[in-house]
Amino acid sequence: MWEYTDKVKDHFLHPRNVGEVEDADAVAEVGSIACGDALKLSFKLDENKRIKEVKFKTFGCASAIATSSALTEMIKGMTLEEAEKVTNQDIANYLGGLPQEKMHCSVMGREALEKAIAIYKGTVPKETEGKIVCECFGVTDLEIERAIRENNLATLEDVTNFTKAGGGCGNCHGAIQEIIDRVRGELSTKPPERPKLSNIQKIKRIEETIEREIRPSLKLDGGDIELIDVVGNRVLVATRGACASCQASNQTLKHFVEAKLRELVWPELVVEEVSQ
Ligand code: FES
Repeated sequence: MWEYTDKVKDHFLHPRNVGEVEDADAVAEVGSIACGDALKLSFKLDENKRIKEVKFKTFGCASAIATSSALTEMIKGMTLEEAEKVTNQDIANYLGGLPQEKMHCSVMGREALEKAIAIYKGTVPKETEGKIVCECFGVTDLEIERAIRENNLATLEDVTNFTKAGGGCGNCHGAIQEIIDRVRGELSTKPPERPKLSNIQKIKRIEETIEREIRPSLKLDGGDIELIDVVGNRVLVATRGACASCQASNQTLKHFVEAKLRELVWPELVVEEVSQ
């Protein structure tokens, strides 16, 4: 049985913006009913090119409906440039976290948004140019590669949780493992671009990254974190606001806060929660 946050339950039981926008500027469909999840997203822009109206129709599980509903609430009022920056992790964070096994629902939301924007702009989303690796769920090599890079995935199970690839007959497991090995190999053999940081530089960059990249997403959901100390590569933080009482805060710290700090400050940082 999955553990859902109250916000996931609320968006599932009372989904916002259900339906199809009349005279939409763009309509995109992703997933397929045969594969168990499908999402149709439509939006209309106002005279300032901001998303004025956005609606969804989703076939799928509770978290697929909740993530679609959350996505529409998040992007209303945004420009397309702002909406393009919304990641699947932002959608999961908005909902206070999702079970790992349901992260693919947030990926489906992000894919629908990207496809709708691409349709509006008359371009083709990059992943649709890839080669199908998982026939059961129609997932391409580029989609798998992107999920690994963006979410720091390391195992076949991770890839299935985030993309559904590999969750059916299993024929694609070998091909998925090859992609994981290649991408992780590339990530680990990347030349060390970063010079060694002094402790003061490290703390400064952590503070800047929290302020610029992490806090705004947490605040969308009424949450926050405070940097308490940095001991070597251990980043000690305390959760605040809605994060302090959220059951999924560990997941947020690991898969969002730590992943961002590793990406933008230092790849060996480990985030630990302390009570203060
Ligand atoms: S081909 Fe990927 S699970 Fe069947």
